[in-house]
Amino acid sequence: MITEYLDRISITVVAEDSVLYESPYWGQHGISLYVQAEHNTVVRNILIDVGQSPEALLHNMRLLGIDPASIDAIVLTHCHYDHTQGLAEVLKAIGKRDLPVIAHPDLFRLDFIVNPYLRHVGVMAGDSRQELEANGACLFLTADPLQLLPGLTTTGYIPRTTDFEEVGIPLKTIDSEGKVVMDPMNDDISVIAALKDEGLVILSGCSHAGIVNIVKHAKSYSGIDTVACVIGGLHLVEAPMERIKKTVDAMHDLVGGTVFAGHCTGFNAQVELRKQFGDRFKPLQTGQKFVFGK
Ligand SMILES: [Fe+2]
Ligand SMILES: [Fe+2]
Repeated sequence: MITEYLDRISITVVAEDSVLYESPYWGQHGISLYVQAEHNTVVRNILIDVGQSPEALLHNMRLLGIDPASIDAIVLTHCHYDHTQGLAEVLKAIGKRDLPVIAHPDLFRLDFIVNPYLRHVGVMAGDSRQELEANGACLFLTADPLQLLPGLTTTGYIPRTTDFEEVGIPLKTIDSEGKVVMDPMNDDISVIAALKDEGLVILSGCSHAGIVNIVKHAKSYSGIDTVACVIGGLHLVEAPMERIKKTVDAMHDLVGGTVFAGHCTGFNAQVELRKQFGDRFKPLQTGQKFVFGK
């Protein structure tokens, strides 16, 4: 249950696969959101994911007037390289000690594809636990929701309740007995902001847990039924039309506000969202800024 609200939140897209029309920003396959959250005069700046190119991320932050040293904490939505690569470099640019880095305990596991060839797609060696800690990270690894400040929390593990959603990629891992098994992406977490007048703002990375599962969990965990906005990647890029239609139908029932979806959402899902949400849907792009609250 969320009992306190943020006074204000702003979300700036500092990394994404596409860029705003005529903008000077650099695109990259990945996502990173710079979040400024305010509660009772306390302001915290939180970076959600870092994309995969610290060069492009820091370039965009410079153009947007965002000082890396302003970052107070980092949330990693899941292990994938397009959300975590270069984190050690970003920590160097931030230049702090004991900077909270929040993620699920499974973050550093092997996570791989075998098609078109064997390739690890999780956290890369340059961003190992040791590298992150050497560059100032204080790791908070938990499957539970973790409050970042009153009115802003991570979701923790997302229960899988729908029968039509799945990870979206045939990912594998190696279990504790050395067996090669499908990877359920239990580390997929999101961030929820609660605003008194507007309701929930839900920020996701790739939504490997399923965006409908995420929105349902955000509502039941927070006790708040109104969704003002969903921002992030929905990982429907390779999904069959049947799943896309079921997802967008369910989203339409659950979300009365806006949806800004990009990265791994895919064109078919974006078209379907536009059809159902009309102007309440827009593709997510580098350089966008969203503000909720006063
Ligand atoms: Fe991704
Ligand atoms: Fe992903």
